[in-house]
Amino acid sequence: MAIPNNEAKKPAPPCHIAIIMDGNGRWAKNRGLPRTAGHAAGAEAFRKIANYCRTLGVQYLTVYAFSTENWKRSQEEVAGIMKLLGAYLKEALRDMEKNRVKFCFFGDLTRLSPELRKLCDQAQRQSREYDVQVNFCLNYGGRDEIVQAARRFAQKVAAGEAEADALTEGVFESYLYSAGVPDPELIVRPSGELRTSNFLLWQSAYSEYVFMNVLWPDFGPEELDRAIEEYHRRSRRFGGV
Ligand code: FPP
Repeated sequence: MAIPNNEAKKPAPPCHIAIIMDGNGRWAKNRGLPRTAGHAAGAEAFRKIANYCRTLGVQYLTVYAFSTENWKRSQEEVAGIMKLLGAYLKEALRDMEKNRVKFCFFGDLTRLSPELRKLCDQAQRQSREYDVQVNFCLNYGGRDEIVQAARRFAQKVAAGEAEADALTEGVFESYLYSAGVPDPELIVRPSGELRTSNFLLWQSAYSEYVFMNVLWPDFGPEELDRAIEEYHRRSRRFGGV
């Protein structure tokens, strides 16, 4: 029996989706609200999308929460974002057994407050056994990630623990924050901006980018469905034919 169109099986979603959560400031400005209100709405959008990814069966979700460049913002805005992250992690620790999400952090966490670092550490340790993974990019920069990986490899060579000639792409990857995580097949950037902004520079070599004209706080499951549909329309050749 033919399957009616609306019941046709959807193709599997990408295994790894990465998102640049952009447009919070403009969303707030459009409403005459402070920028921190935009980030609070952005944190809500993240909660909904993380849950939706789980129901879709996405294995890895990576989000750009705070870049190495975001320290240039006002102290008030930086503190607001950090507060939202802390509140979210406390909530995640409380609901850990129910949600069963593995938390990972990409970035140099040494610049974060001791309280936030402790929450990151607790979330990472306590969720180690779960398999659906959320990677928070925090004080993260793609260039910084590559430099710190190169530095750590060079230190191993200097200590006589590694051979420079034995360095391959696979070995180098094991020094990145994303070690062991497959590259994202799909990277979504809402807000209408058309750039990568130092996000996952190494890992995005063959990612499909979908840029969308919606501000992050307005981004919901429908928008993610549209991005995934667009991804499925792409022909991925990885340099082949
Ligand atoms: C970019 O939009 C967004 C950020 C730099 C911060 C993202 C942080 C959050 C969504 C909250 C983090 C908390 C959780 C729980 C995920 P923008 O401020 O640059 O927007 P604009 O370009 O419109 O000014």
